Amino acid sequence: MKTQVAIIGAGPSGLLLGQLLHKQGIENVILEKVSPDYVLGRIRAGVLEQGFVDLMREAGVAERMDSEGEIHDGFEIALNGVRNRIDLKGLTGGNTVIVYGQTELTRDLMDARTKTNQTTHYQVNDVQPHDMLEEHPYVTYESGGKQYKLECDYIAGSDGFHGVSRKSIPKDCITEYERLYPGGWLGLLSDTPPVNPELVYIRHERGFALCSLRSQTRSRYYLQVGKNDKIEDWNDERFWEELKRRLPKDLADKLITGPSIEKSIAPMRSFVVDPMQYGRLFLLGDAAHIVPPTGAKGLNTAASDVYTLYTILTKVYGQGKTELLKEYSKICLRRIWDGERFSWWMSNMLHKFEETSAFNEKIYNSEIEYYLNSDAGRRVIAEQYVGLPYDNVE
Ligand code: APR
Ligand code: PHB
Repeated sequence: MKTQVAIIGAGPSGLLLGQLLHKQGIENVILEKVSPDYVLGRIRAGVLEQGFVDLMREAGVAERMDSEGEIHDGFEIALNGVRNRIDLKGLTGGNTVIVYGQTELTRDLMDARTKTNQTTHYQVNDVQPHDMLEEHPYVTYESGGKQYKLECDYIAGSDGFHGVSRKSIPKDCITEYERLYPGGWLGLLSDTPPVNPELVYIRHERGFALCSLRSQTRSRYYLQVGKNDKIEDWNDERFWEELKRRLPKDLADKLITGPSIEKSIAPMRSFVVDPMQYGRLFLLGDAAHIVPPTGAKGLNTAASDVYTLYTILTKVYGQGKTELLKEYSKICLRRIWDGERFSWWMSNMLHKFEETSAFNEKIYNSEIEYYLNSDAGRRVIAEQYVGLPYDNVE
């Protein structure tokens, strides 16, 4: 088999890239190790920067996002029980974010791919990129007991943090930057009305909490938990009681609880690989970088990688601009580190980590109070939350 771009991974990065390339007449095949239902079963964030929204519209898959997604003009940061609103729209000259679950946008991308009769092989095994430094790379995989070889011009490694793509690059050709945080996020999804119409990030003596939502009838809540906490330690009752302890009183008093329809613990990690390419293999999304979810940047940094690779490949196939290929990683990483820094900063400002010294605890508290009490400080938070501009690719 042969295609122009072999995409490894049918998560948001791979699916969005595939749809954008298709719109430009660039043929692509996606290889995914699990089933479509398994992909859709992953509950992830849902705050979309304008850049992501624009790409979904350019890909022609934004109809449901535009009709069901919620435009949010602001969000809150609660410190020591006091709620502070960040006026995104007012502080950024009109920019906002859209709240729309990753599960839903992944479903929209899957449906669009099916409607456009593009090739996606699910539940394949032993995917392996080959000859990445050669002119004709290829990818091998097993499906239904048979071995296959997919020849291509380029390979897009959008197979997430645990995927095969990054691990196929010789260790001495990359540098990995990592910070593991001593704790995780315990998330709960419930069919209950959100406690607040906008997101509320909470710094509390007992630990961080976040009130988010998927719609006016479906809520998403998070609690910072210890690095040894297990999901079986947290039944619904304990979750709701702890959340109430961390919420500002007026929110705690009106919290509507209910049975969890999903509950999971995600680790907190910052990670970047440099460079994000090796010959004709290009890494994008979680395959190349991870952020703690505090800044809502995971999906949005993946989107800017997709934009950069899609734009470069469109110029390569359309105008023969192959010199752009070697610029991919540098262009992506400049914006990635912005997202890493904001996510790291929000995490340190709003979490209580065991490892943090008493002095640093005081510094962080003083710093976030300074930012919230200053127009300049709120503007710095707002312009990063709505998303810094994408870099030009030319
Ligand atoms: N072969 C084929 N597919 C693979 C392999 C492999 N060896 N390893 C992983 N995959 C698939 C996974 O099953 C998954 O569906 O690659 C896909 C990667 O998707 P994500 O992990 O969602 O990564 P990405 O598409 O970059 O999306 C980033 O997802 O995890 C969230 O917070 C993250 O919001 C961010 C977004
Ligand atoms: C979510 O709704 O899942 C969510 C929102 C904002 C974040 C992280 C997660 O920063």
